[in-house]
Amino acid sequence: MNKRIHEVFVWPLCTRIIHWIMATSFLLSFGTSFFHYLFRWHLAFGLIFGIVLLFRLIWGFVGPNYATFKTFTLSPKELQDYFVQKVQNRWRKIHAGHNAASSWFTLIVLGLGSWIVLSGLLLQGIQEGSGIFKELNEHYFQFSSSLLSLHEVLSYLLFIWALIHIVGVLIEQFYHKTHMLFAMITGYKKAEGSDARVSMVRHLFAYAVIGLSMVTLYSVACSNETFLTQSRFEKRNFQAENPAFFEKCSTCHKLYPPFMLPHDSWVRLMEGLDNHFGEQIRENNITKSEQMSIKAYLLSHSAESSSHKVAFKTLESLGEMRPISMSKVPYWRETHKSIDKNIYHSLHVKDASNCFACHPDFEYGILDNTRIHIPK
Ligand code: HEC
Ligand code: HEC
Repeated sequence: MNKRIHEVFVWPLCTRIIHWIMATSFLLSFGTSFFHYLFRWHLAFGLIFGIVLLFRLIWGFVGPNYATFKTFTLSPKELQDYFVQKVQNRWRKIHAGHNAASSWFTLIVLGLGSWIVLSGLLLQGIQEGSGIFKELNEHYFQFSSSLLSLHEVLSYLLFIWALIHIVGVLIEQFYHKTHMLFAMITGYKKAEGSDARVSMVRHLFAYAVIGLSMVTLYSVACSNETFLTQSRFEKRNFQAENPAFFEKCSTCHKLYPPFMLPHDSWVRLMEGLDNHFGEQIRENNITKSEQMSIKAYLLSHSAESSSHKVAFKTLESLGEMRPISMSKVPYWRETHKSIDKNIYHSLHVKDASNCFACHPDFEYGILDNTRIHIPK
């Protein structure tokens, strides 16, 4: 016996919550991806999307009726019939379970979504050197650009797919008047079939997943370093690496890490010390032998030898150019173009070359985009 006449209870509360977590986490991770300084949130929402996606995959095998993959109708004939009926008969009766269109829709969301999450996690490891795949950074960083393209293209496809879904629901709601929009809120669908029954164990499983999503959000929001965001790059000890560099190149500004610029830029910089950004650096400041030692050190630790994102992005964007300042690097300009120019001249920043003001621990070789902050 159904609880309501003409309506079927299809979605228990836990399923509805998970549906909305899936929708909002995808849209929020999509939206935050356009801002590097929101990277931490992009990651958090992406992870949550991954968790609920995995849940939905498992639910497809062990969930209640209407949710399992074995009830999906996937033949092309049925898909065609669905659309023919939809066009020809505005007041057609619908079945409570997945029709051919929604079966295909769900499978494509799960397929695209899994690849987006997987490519995202790999990208985090390979490009940023952080997260569960951080060890892959050292050997595979040259794949980050192609991985990024894949991650982006799939995400746009899923975004378009989500828009199609919304349009479909609105057509059901306002043209066919099947109350589809409210069904994901109340759980009741105007359709034919019998009410869904969800066992205690399934309820527990679903609520555990909801709990896990909340814990993920909380831990990423409250901490810079969780095992999901931890970087493989540790603070460098430049004093031990090269004492002359550590001592002499930090008298006027904090240390710029050697991986920041290419080999030939360091050659130019070290050969032009007599006019170093308007400063004259002579042998009485840095002796000849110290200069040689610093130069050799910088050349052997330049961008070419590094798997830091800033190093390969810089090299990639420079082409033949070999500037001695980051603000001349196209990649740098691109990533900083959204920043208000006045901020650079504010009290705490003073100049665009003062990377240290907005990138904490940059002088120790740390450039982590979960930690960017603009001083007020
Ligand atoms: C006024 C603050 C500020 C200064 C100064 C600054 N940055 Fe940034 N930087 C930012 C912000 C904010 C972002 C993120 C921009 C965005 O959201 O796209 C960023 C992004 C970056 C990124 C990209 C991060 C990533 O993982 O994609 C790199 C690399 C970087 N900065 C390096 C530098 C270097 C090197 C310097 C010094 C030459 C510097 N920045 C100076 C604020 C600053
Ligand atoms: C006498 C002071 C002085 C000393 C010593 C000095 N610098 Fe500089 N350096 C400057 C000034 C001034 C700038 C311009 C940017 C600024 O105001 O911080 C600059 C800028 C730079 C930049 C460009 C940053 C950017 O991307 O805009 C690099 C790289 C750099 N210095 C490396 C070195 C190295 C390597 C050494 C040691 C061999 C060194 N500096 C020693 C004064 C100095």
